[in-house]
Amino acid sequence: ARKIIIDCDPGIDDALAITLAHGSPALEIVGITTVGGNVNLAYTTANALRLREFLGFPEVPVTAGSAGPLLRDPWNEPDARDTLAARRRTPKDAANVHGEFGLGGARLPEAVLPPRDGHAADFIIDTLRAAPGEITLVAIGPLTNVALAVLKEPRVVDWAREFAILGGSYTRGNYSPAAEFNIAADPESAAVVFGAGWTVTTIGLDVSRQALAVGRIVDRMRAMGRLGTDLLVPCVEFYGMVTADEGPAVHDACALAYLIDPSLVTLEPAVVQVETAGRYTSGMTVTDFGLAGRAPNAMVGTSIDVPRFWDLVLTTYENVAGR
Ligand code: BDR
Ligand code: CA
Repeated sequence: ARKIIIDCDPGIDDALAITLAHGSPALEIVGITTVGGNVNLAYTTANALRLREFLGFPEVPVTAGSAGPLLRDPWNEPDARDTLAARRRTPKDAANVHGEFGLGGARLPEAVLPPRDGHAADFIIDTLRAAPGEITLVAIGPLTNVALAVLKEPRVVDWAREFAILGGSYTRGNYSPAAEFNIAADPESAAVVFGAGWTVTTIGLDVSRQALAVGRIVDRMRAMGRLGTDLLVPCVEFYGMVTADEGPAVHDACALAYLIDPSLVTLEPAVVQVETAGRYTSGMTVTDFGLAGRAPNAMVGTSIDVPRFWDLVLTTYENVAGR
């Protein structure tokens, strides 16, 4: 199985992605790291811990990382600026999409086991250093932890077997007209990560907006016992209330599905640069497929085989439910 570290901000679609990774015999989760994003770091970490115990992989370490972005003063509320409490909060969260606690209507028991000590960036560095070329890093939240890791130890770029993200878009955004949430939440970190010298496998909204959890998919989840009724269905139904009318896009699951079966996603080489200064376009992933003689820094997803994607996801979930 391909060994992976999942850097995440659960998050409804993060939960769907973690469940997929856990259930797939093609992947072995060697660590989960958390970042503030969809909701604050305390909640994303608590959710990762809950998922770990609910799904039953308590031996896999969960390590918390950055609460907020690398540089930016993200605290939009002027009256909240410069207070310690505000600095601990997630700046641009997506609690409107993921629910106050991050997992929509899912009610997983509180976790018993604590996170591992230390910072996510150090976990990433140490784990990749111990097995150069073997471990894939996949980031499905804002890129702060990954940026810190590559700034502190640039060799992680060579040690990673592959680095893949769910983030960005070359057509339209979801946080703003130009920017996707994970990039918009911390554009400077994204710029560091795209400029680090590796080739970033970039699955963005252009791909993930094709994979919608429409009604018949939710019906199949409903028949999956507690996995369906306590986790999957309340997650997707909550997500569905606030996103697309045909059903929500399960973004983060697309990045994990790609790692399980790369043939699901079509990738094209491109130069991706992150807008960090734009007045209307901050966090935009400016994607040049023309290359103009420049070496690509990314393989960018352009399409996904939707029927095969859902077949993979649902059969994997059914296996988890039947265990
Ligand atoms: C991304 O933003 C988050 O809200 C989701 O969890 C996903 O990682 C989609 O734009
Ligand atoms: Ca996410």
